[in-house]
Parts: sequence; structure tokens; C-alpha cells
Amino acid sequence: MKIGLLGFGTVGSAFYTLARECPGTEIARLLVLEKLPQADCAQTTDFADIVNDPAIDTVVELIGGLHPAYEFVTAAMKAGKNVVTANKQLVCACYDELVTLAEKQGVALRCTAAAGGGIPWLHSLARLTACDRVTAVSGIMNGTTNYILSAMTDQGTEYADNLREAQRLGYAEADPTADVEGYDACRKLVLSVNIAFGVSIPEAEVPCFGISGIAAADIAAFKRLGLVCKLIAHAELTENGVAACVEPMLFPVSGQMAHINGPDNLISLRAERVGAQSFAGAGAGGFPTASNVLADCLEIAAGCAPFYIAERRPLSVGNDGLRQRYYVRTDAGADSRLMTVREAHALAAEYKNNQQPFFMAAVAEEK
Ligand SMILES: NC(=O)c1ccc[n+]([C@@H]2O[C@H](COP(=O)([O-])OP(=O)(O)OC[C@H]3O[C@@H](n4cnc5c(N)ncnc54)[C@H](OP(=O)(O)O)[C@@H]3O)[C@@H](O)[C@H]2O)c1
Repeated sequence: MKIGLLGFGTVGSAFYTLARECPGTEIARLLVLEKLPQADCAQTTDFADIVNDPAIDTVVELIGGLHPAYEFVTAAMKAGKNVVTANKQLVCACYDELVTLAEKQGVALRCTAAAGGGIPWLHSLARLTACDRVTAVSGIMNGTTNYILSAMTDQGTEYADNLREAQRLGYAEADPTADVEGYDACRKLVLSVNIAFGVSIPEAEVPCFGISGIAAADIAAFKRLGLVCKLIAHAELTENGVAACVEPMLFPVSGQMAHINGPDNLISLRAERVGAQSFAGAGAGGFPTASNVLADCLEIAAGCAPFYIAERRPLSVGNDGLRQRYYVRTDAGADSRLMTVREAHALAAEYKNNQQPFFMAAVAEEK
């Protein structure tokens, strides 16, 4: 396999190392913004040198963001090249278009590292859909928020202190909005839902409530109740479609969820015949993520399925059917309320619009 590699950042540089150690894969050319002395391969600052090179069969996109990643990925597929990417933002926003283009061009498009970083989650999910009906996907899909919540629970410290520490350690970006408000987890959830249920749901229909409003006093209250807080992305098939949301959730300290700490992820599925399955591990990081990118490349070289699933039924998200108990804290104090997911997120939006203090967390059902 001759690869055109786009980007030499955290994941790109790790992929470069892994690919060069792997027999049969060659980095034919690397796209950079400025030539890099640390990369010992042909480099270019012009994507045309990659897309017009007939020897390159696969483009690995690791620059991130929507643009110019979208233009590069679509041009590569139009030129008959396979694409492997870890870019959840791009694949989630343009899911239908990119999969349709890959099918039309007869090329492969894979993005296993886009959800779960180093965990082969999307790959495993797709395999299972071939032989069972998946009915729910859920879990800790964002390492940054899990690090912050774990640190707050361990140390009793405030959110802002732990966000700063997460940024210092490289777990959180300078602008942490996508992570802490739940948008990053939402994108991973949308990809998981699309693959698990053979559908296509719009990212904008999934309500997200993140952790930026949490206080040390909330964590202390959870501890007194024997509970820990995690940011959970959840979706399940319903009679009318799919219910999906991202929100903080409270779990017993003795349960499996409570033991997933730091930047790790735990992602689970429920299927009719195999029952429940969980996947845990490094949800981010250069080498874990790059290993999933390389595994996608090797599967393409081995002639495996070009994309995860063929079916893409458009489906709406509806959160009226799922009623659960919520911890709700406002200026007036904390209480517990039974609400549907739709009602809870509408309440959160009302407080946000009025710029009033608010935090909520769903109480996970005992299983
Ligand atoms: N990091 C993780 O743990 C992780 C986990 C899962 C998925 N991902 C995904 O993997 C992708 C890459 O993430 P990352 O953490 O490796 O990001 P990163 O460290 O910021 O690397 C991106 C690299 O691409 C370069 N770049 C930007 N625009 C470019 C262009 N037009 N041409 C050539 N190079 C360009 C950047 O250069 P400058 O720095 O000079 O701008 C940077 O070196 C993203 O889609 C991310 O969501 C990352």
C-alpha cells in the first residue's frame, strides 16, 4: 500500500512511525504546512502532488477539522484513492455524502479511530451488525471530561482547576468547548448510531449537556450518595426511531463505570443475541489512535469491506420515551426530578439561555 499522509501532528507522527515499521506499507509522500526535518520521506506543501500521484492508492487524513480536510478527502476519493481518517468532525458532519462518494467511486473509506481513539469500537460494532441486531450503544466516549471528572472526584477540587491541569497535560485543547460541552462525544455517538443501526441521524438533533457547570459541591453530594459522575453518550432504538443524548450520569461507586478513570473510555453495546459487550481502553493518544488508523489501512489492503455498513436509513431523534430520575441543582439548591430526556434537556437549555447556574445528571438505572 502506498500512502499519502496528510498531517504530522500527534496522530500523524505516530502513524508515520507505525507505518514505517509495518511491512507492505509505504509513506510515499507527506503533506505538511512547512517541510519537517524529523520526517525522513518525500514531503510536499501542495496536496496536488498527492492527489495527482497515480502511485498513491490510499490517503490517510490526520490534519483534523472540516476544511481543508473535506476538500482533500473528497478529491482523493474522486481520484480513485481509498481514504482512512480519524476525523470525527468531518465524517460526522458529512456522513452520507462521504459514504455515497466512496460507494460511487468504488474506493474504501474507513474511520475506526474517529470514535474511541485506540479502541477498535466502530470496527467491532460493524462486524456484529452482520450477525446480530444492535439495540443500544452507550458509554464514556470522551477522555478529557473523564479525566476532569475523575480528578474532581479524587481530589474534591473545582472544575476550573482540573480543566487547567487537563490542558497542561495535553488532555484538553486550548479551546475545550467541544469536549466539555459534549459535542465531541456527540459526534462519536452519531457515528456509532449510524453504524450500529444502519441509519443516518443528524448531529444537530442529539441534545448535549456537558460538564462545564459542575461544582465541587455537586461531586461531594454524589459521594455522600455513593455515586460517581461520568459524561455519557447514549442511544437506543425505540418504537418510532432512535433516542439519543449526551449528558452527565451518576453510577454506583461499586460498579464498572466508576473504575474507568483518567482519559480512558468505556463503550458498550447491547444486541439481541450476544447481549451486552463492553470495550475499554485509551480513547485518545498518538500511538493508540494511530494503531487503529494503521489497522484500517491493513484491512483495506487485505480487501476487507470498503465501509462499515451498506444501509443508511434517514432517522429522526426523539427523546420523549425515555424517562429517568435527574439530580438537578440551581440557585435554589439541589433536588431530584423524574423527567423525560427531552424535558431535562429543555430545562437545561432554558437555564443556559437565561445564563443562570444549573447542573443536572441522570441517575443510571440499577442493572
Ligand atoms: N489526538 C488524539 O488523541 C486523537 C484521537 C482520536 C482522533 N483524533 C483525530 O485525529 C486527527 C488529528 O488529530 P491530532 O491530535 O493529531 O491533531 P494535531 O496534533 O493538531 O495534528 C494535526 C497536524 O496537521 C497539520 N495541518 C493542519 N492543516 C494542515 C494542512 N492544510 N496541510 C498539512 N498539514 C496540516 C497541523 O500543523 P500545525 O500544527 O502547524 O497547524 C498539525 O501538525 C483529528 O481529526 C482528531 O480529531 C485525534
